[in-house]
Amino acid sequence: MLRFRVNGQEHTTDADPALPLLWYLRDELDLTGTKFGCGKALCGACTVHVDGQAVRSCTTTLQDVSDRSIVTIEGLDPAGDHPVQKAWRAANVPQCGFCQAGQIMQAAALLAANPKPTDAEIDQGMAGNICRCGCYQRIHTAVRLAATGV
Ligand code: FES
Ligand code: FES
Repeated sequence: MLRFRVNGQEHTTDADPALPLLWYLRDELDLTGTKFGCGKALCGACTVHVDGQAVRSCTTTLQDVSDRSIVTIEGLDPAGDHPVQKAWRAANVPQCGFCQAGQIMQAAALLAANPKPTDAEIDQGMAGNICRCGCYQRIHTAVRLAATGV
């Protein structure tokens, strides 16, 4: 039996410990804000926080998160008013939207670890999150806005 917390709620499961966290979040908990992109830790669409760190949930197993605390896009701020989300709206970042939950979770973890990043640190911190729509300039602007206050 595995135990962990998701968005502040305790969960226990006898699911296969090798099951990717992404599958559990989407299929068992219906937390579909976290997206499947590549399944190989290459795109960042599936990014969630585990004990405050940005991780790729497609290659993180349930065993990996045993006794740990997970936050998904649904739990980042129930009202959608996390500073990063406010900045995202102010900068009108999304195009198709598919990558955006992962981008926001990556940015939130980046700013939690480094509240005043340089431009280079923003680019480096966000480099693993792919946007097929090419919203990179607006993503950068929004991270900068979130760091300086919207
Ligand atoms: S789906 Fe996990 S990194 Fe692409
Ligand atoms: S907004 Fe379309 S993939 Fe990023």
